[in-house]
Amino acid sequence: MDGLIAHFEQVISSDGDPHLDASGPALPPGVVVATVPSRYRPRCVSLRDGREVTLRAIVETDAKEIVQAFERLSAESRYYRFMRYKKNLDGAAVQRGVHPRPGQDFAFVATIPAADGIDIVGAGQYVRAGEGNDKTCEFAITVAEDWRGIGLATRLLSSLMRRARLDGYETMEGWVIAQNSPMLAAAHKLRFKIEPVPGDATVLRVQRALSRCSVVASTTATTAP
Ligand SMILES: CC(C)(COP(=O)(O)OP(=O)(O)OC[C@H]1O[C@@H](n2cnc3c(N)ncnc32)[C@H](O)[C@@H]1OP(=O)(O)O)[C@@H](O)C(=O)NCCC(=O)NCCS
Repeated sequence: MDGLIAHFEQVISSDGDPHLDASGPALPPGVVVATVPSRYRPRCVSLRDGREVTLRAIVETDAKEIVQAFERLSAESRYYRFMRYKKNLDGAAVQRGVHPRPGQDFAFVATIPAADGIDIVGAGQYVRAGEGNDKTCEFAITVAEDWRGIGLATRLLSSLMRRARLDGYETMEGWVIAQNSPMLAAAHKLRFKIEPVPGDATVLRVQRALSRCSVVASTTATTAP
């Protein structure tokens, strides 16, 4: 259960291996994208209320914006995301977050233009679920308070599923506070199984196979092209 929490809290050296891809579609004015450490092309995504975000892989230069996005979250949101009350993200954790291990971990950010360049209004990531378990990854998603209820988490999760499949994962799982209705609804919509955790009624495990056919079928039905 602690894979993602540990991922953001331990110092593990990065083996970054950038594959540059500057051939994505045109970005909205004001969007600053440095090098993209994956083959994922930045794309513009329209949300249900008409607002747009740029969805792209996280990059090293996002560190400052990740901290700002965390600071804008309510105490309850932080608790739902980290499963404990958390006042700060420490620097090592942030560095780990912006250096996903290629082929093992991945992180998307959803950005909008801002006075200082960009704001990050959503993030989703997965990491290997545990040593010796290279077929299961664990996801987590966060959406900024005023960007909720318009499908961004669902979009992030479906993109993570497809990406994890490309990384060779067969199962995706997540740990969700039992009262977290929006996260459970998004998982249910994308056909995750929702299961109790023995001995802990406060948390639910969501889990889904990432077979090629089922990922394509469920995500084409629920995400923008
Ligand atoms: C959980 C979270 C990521 C959901 O983000 P979101 O972008 O609002 O989610 P979506 O808009 O994709 O909504 C997913 C579903 O949740 C349900 N939902 C949305 N808002 C809801 C609310 N306030 N109450 C109950 N259900 C709600 C809807 O069924 C929705 O499906 P629909 O789009 O078909 O209507 C966001 O609330 C968040 O960042 N919370 C704090 C961090 C967290 O809990 N992370 C999850 C840890 S894994």
